[in-house]
Amino acid sequence: MPPLADVNETYTDIITTVFSSTIAAKAWLATAALAFVVVQLVTAARIYGRLSFLPERGATIASVHRWSGRTAFLLTLPVFFHCVTILGFQTPGARVAIHSLAGTFVYGVFAAKVLIVRDRSLPGWTLPVAGLSLASTLVVIWLTSSLWYFTNVRFGF
Ligand code: HEM
Repeated sequence: MPPLADVNETYTDIITTVFSSTIAAKAWLATAALAFVVVQLVTAARIYGRLSFLPERGATIASVHRWSGRTAFLLTLPVFFHCVTILGFQTPGARVAIHSLAGTFVYGVFAAKVLIVRDRSLPGWTLPVAGLSLASTLVVIWLTSSLWYFTNVRFGF
């Protein structure tokens, strides 16, 4: 296992080929993930018959739902990696503490959602509750990191 400083340097080298800094990259990757979470919410609402402006419930909407979910998950991975290996769990104030806590739970909630969606024997309410918990966790993570960065530090790539 290479020392943490080397991991951080390699991560920064790769990320700064595209973005100005690791923080900017993480803020934008998390924002892209959030955009796919919105797609998730809209397609789920359509599947549950709550929206009527999208195509009928069927193969297309289900596939958009699945692929937006997978994409959102993949986009969070490099961000999570940096948070956990380089920054770690920090509690200097409410915002960062809430962020660290929500970040710690997010893949647990994700795993629960993925297991629930495959288990047809569970009551009908479990899936929307799991899906909304996952989306809410990601929204909290985004509000306490990306939004804070864009509004307090810098809005740019
Ligand atoms: C999918 C999960 C996560 C996402 C999408 C995410 C996203 C972000 C983003 C966009 C930032 C701002 C960029 C930066 O300051 O480097 C950030 C910062 C941070 N993250 Fe995460 N994070 C996640 C999980 C975690 C976890 C699990 C922890 C703790 C164990 C954590 C701890 C931190 C800390 C301490 C900061 C610095 C906050 C500050 O000082 O402003 N994050 N995160």
